[in-house]
Amino acid sequence: MAELGSVTWPPAPIRTERLVLRQSEARDRAAFIELFASPEVGTYLGGPRPRDELERAVPEVPGRRPGVFVIDLDGALIGTVSLDRRDAERPGHVRPDAREAELGYMLLPKAWGRGYTTEACSAALDWFADVRPDEPVVLCTQTANTCSMRLAAKLGFTEVERFEEYGAEQWFGARSPVTPSG
Ligand SMILES: CC(C)(COP(=O)(O)OP(=O)(O)OC[C@H]1O[C@@H](n2cnc3c(N)ncnc32)[C@H](O)[C@@H]1OP(=O)(O)O)[C@@H](O)C(=O)NCCC(=O)NCCS
Repeated sequence: MAELGSVTWPPAPIRTERLVLRQSEARDRAAFIELFASPEVGTYLGGPRPRDELERAVPEVPGRRPGVFVIDLDGALIGTVSLDRRDAERPGHVRPDAREAELGYMLLPKAWGRGYTTEACSAALDWFADVRPDEPVVLCTQTANTCSMRLAAKLGFTEVERFEEYGAEQWFGARSPVTPSG
């Protein structure tokens, strides 16, 4: 997916009540491999990738590009949250020139069910609203991914359309930029 574009990157680490959002480091590599090799994480993301292939392919510092935050709990990676440009060729757009900012998130299963994704995504969306105040953010998830669908609603995304892609029904939603009142 295309990089985020003209934002100052990396920002200073973003602290929330329980988490830190920061750029990736070499020490995150093993946890990145866990994420991509996890059958649970891969359920609605095209399936897990073989661990030996990941050991060969994952770079020394994975995920180091503008828009990708490591979600850090007590000094260790528990997942990632990202804002990337959506490919113009894919279905699902809200702007005439496409290439919207798209929110993505993945957490290690041991960290699910504690509200960490909501906390991390809210902070990433606040950061984005600050650096790109006039831009909407979009999100695409399989309708079968009920955790992700609930999360999208909690974060304020509303449905734009549904379509078939990768052999599954996809929910495509958007979150409008906050317009200052008065
Ligand atoms: C989708 C996914 C990110 C959800 O992760 P999560 O951390 O469990 O999600 P949330 O932050 O919404 O937390 C879920 C639950 O934690 C509970 N919770 C526990 N403590 C909490 C707290 N302190 N604050 C808020 N919620 C808390 C809530 O009850 C919430 O459940 P609810 O949605 O019924 O309200 C995770 O399942 C995942 O990584 N899946 C694989 C990757 C994937 O599919 N990504 C989506 C691609 S679009």
